[in-house]
Amino acid sequence: MEMQTFLVTGCAGFIGSNFVHYMLEKYPGVRLVGLDKLTYAGNLENLADVENDARYTFVQGDICDKALVEELLRRHDPDCVVNFAAESHVDRSIKNPELFVKTNVEGTVDLLQCCKDAWYDAAAKTWKAGKKYLQVSTDEVYGALGPEGYFTEATPLCPHSPYSASKAAADLFVMAFHDTYGMPVNITRCSNNYGPCQFPEKLIPLLINNARQHKALPVYGDGMQVRDWLYVRDHCKAIDAVARAGREGEVYNIGGHNERPNLFIVKTVIAQLRERLGDGAISEALITHVADRPGHDRRYGIDPAKIRHDLGWYPETPFEKGIALTIDWYLANPGWMAGVTSGEYLKYYEQMYKNR
Ligand code: NAD
Ligand code: TYD
Repeated sequence: MEMQTFLVTGCAGFIGSNFVHYMLEKYPGVRLVGLDKLTYAGNLENLADVENDARYTFVQGDICDKALVEELLRRHDPDCVVNFAAESHVDRSIKNPELFVKTNVEGTVDLLQCCKDAWYDAAAKTWKAGKKYLQVSTDEVYGALGPEGYFTEATPLCPHSPYSASKAAADLFVMAFHDTYGMPVNITRCSNNYGPCQFPEKLIPLLINNARQHKALPVYGDGMQVRDWLYVRDHCKAIDAVARAGREGEVYNIGGHNERPNLFIVKTVIAQLRERLGDGAISEALITHVADRPGHDRRYGIDPAKIRHDLGWYPETPFEKGIALTIDWYLANPGWMAGVTSGEYLKYYEQMYKNR
């Protein structure tokens, strides 16, 4: 049966808003209900171009508000709930872990419970046909790798940051609902994303924003930590594939074997911006090594063999193309960056980077 209606939580954030665009472009008959609390990371500007699309409805609200979620499930009867809603930044989790428990753990359990109430006939022990709960998780739940090897779906969970611990806890609840009640679920665990509309607390948009202003480019520790970067649209394509064809109760790792040390990313952004803007002041002299992140994971690397083999997914965007598209987008949208870096962001930046 073709899935037509999706409840997309966290739709106004980076990946959620890219997913809304991807689905509306790909499926003429799709219906999307977006739910987002609009925290500092949620931005309706990310969805301004689709706000009048009759196939998409936005609701401002909290995934922890069970009455609201129940009402949305009743009213829209989605085939699939895709949960992007989360506190997503490791550095913020180090400062305020409780918020990550509230949103990422409790919020996920609230969503699971609401879906179970809507979809499960406890007397008959049966689930409504054609329903699925998809949890968007992260490779960070696996912890850190040494120089060799990759995360597979069988790698034990070993999170180190409050962020990754909260995502791992959420994943365990999702699997508990599957194992205990037979709930139709999938979990996706993707590597680091980059692309349009990413909030400039994350490495790549932070570098773009600072470099344009000739501000210091903060590199944690020696800058040789490795991340496995995936263009956001390829992540959206994978989530769509798992929603439609993922086997119930399965976890799928998502990544494109694009491992790069942070310093490589920093130097790439510098070189591309300098060339694009013809601005010689954007140079490696801006690189500033600062104190390392506590508990900093040294290396992430995804083995995507399962999703490639079982669902035929593969990444379409090589890093060189993806980073060029990303920089193009930020250069073409200075108003977006100005909008999200006023007020609160300045306070955040001061608190996070001053005296570091
Ligand atoms: P983001 O911080 O850009 O967006 C999160 C969105 O969730 C925001 O729009 C925010 O307003 C919303 N939100 C937060 N708390 C909420 C609540 N209680 N109720 C409703 N909405 C709430 O994050 P992102 O980078 O788009 O990440 C989306 C998901 O993907 C997260 O679950 C994250 O763990 C996961 N993920 C991210 C990456 C990455 O590289 N960014 C990689 C793998 C997995
Ligand atoms: P980030 O974008 O926060 O993603 P994550 O921590 O979830 O991987 O950081 C990516 C890498 O870049 C990570 O190793 C931390 C590093 N980093 C810096 O060196 N400087 C910065 O200012 C930021 C935000 C991150």
